[in-house]
Amino acid sequence: SIPVIIDTDPGIDDLVMLTVALTHDELDIRLITTVAGNQTQNKVLDNTLRFLSYVGRTDIEVARGAEQPFFKELKTAAQFHGEFGTGHVIFPEPNITASQRNAVEAIRDVLMQADEPINIVTTGPLTNIGAFLLAYPDLKQKIRKITIMGGAALGGNVAPKAEFNVYTDPDAALVVFDSGVPIVMCGLDVTREAYLTEEDLTRIRQIGTDLSKKMYQMLKFYQQAADITPFHEPFFDMVVRLHDLCAIAYVVNPKIFQGAFYYVTVERKPGLTEGTTVVDYIDSLDKEPNAFVLYSVNREELVDMLIRAIYKVG
Ligand code: BDR
Ligand code: CA
Repeated sequence: SIPVIIDTDPGIDDLVMLTVALTHDELDIRLITTVAGNQTQNKVLDNTLRFLSYVGRTDIEVARGAEQPFFKELKTAAQFHGEFGTGHVIFPEPNITASQRNAVEAIRDVLMQADEPINIVTTGPLTNIGAFLLAYPDLKQKIRKITIMGGAALGGNVAPKAEFNVYTDPDAALVVFDSGVPIVMCGLDVTREAYLTEEDLTRIRQIGTDLSKKMYQMLKFYQQAADITPFHEPFFDMVVRLHDLCAIAYVVNPKIFQGAFYYVTVERKPGLTEGTTVVDYIDSLDKEPNAFVLYSVNREELVDMLIRAIYKVG
């Protein structure tokens, strides 16, 4: 099995990612940490605890992470994920509480106890992971790789060139990209292909379980809020993009993705390009590659993975 720590900010597509992660036989989830991003820390933590209780994975430790980015002011993505982070869907009260340890301490303890290197998967701003790497640089060798949903080699979704998770905390993102830990960048370039069609949405609804209905409702909310741009959408009516799902899918089934190694750094300066991941795809800086940048995925496999996971929850 594949040992992982998941850092997330649910968030509608984060819950899609968690649906697959929490039901996957090959994943050994050692810890989930939450980070302020799509919504405030209180809300994303609450959503995580509720969702874990809902699918019956109360065995997993959930640790509370950052409230705010390193230096910037948090700007949530409420317009895409709703006032509570889950569209109009509210999951039942949780029957678990958060860990006594905060995210950075919990990551430290999990890595220290591990007898093999652990994967980290992030689907929110990089505040927790950046803080961890600054606090415990010696534990880097216990991390196998960090698979990041974030960044964009080409166009952004929150500024012309910047993607939401990196833009929200570019200072933390730079720490992560510069850390020397192997990085997989699962950015907008690949998630552009990770869309659901109207037909896929119907397939999800027709599964007929409580989760399938809730998932359908959330995805409809998310679809209606989405910005339609021909740069990101293969077709104008297909605007449900499962960004975060790609990151966990890569960890369990990298064969369905294509990517290449590049040097990637982050622009932190305020201005037009703030929060941009600068991908040196023409090797003009003559730097050692630090990231495997994904650019293509087999969409059908991704959708099937989600459908199977929804069935599994039952
Ligand atoms: C990312 O931004 C968030 O709103 C999504 O959950 C995803 O992690 C996409 O840019
Ligand atoms: Ca997210």
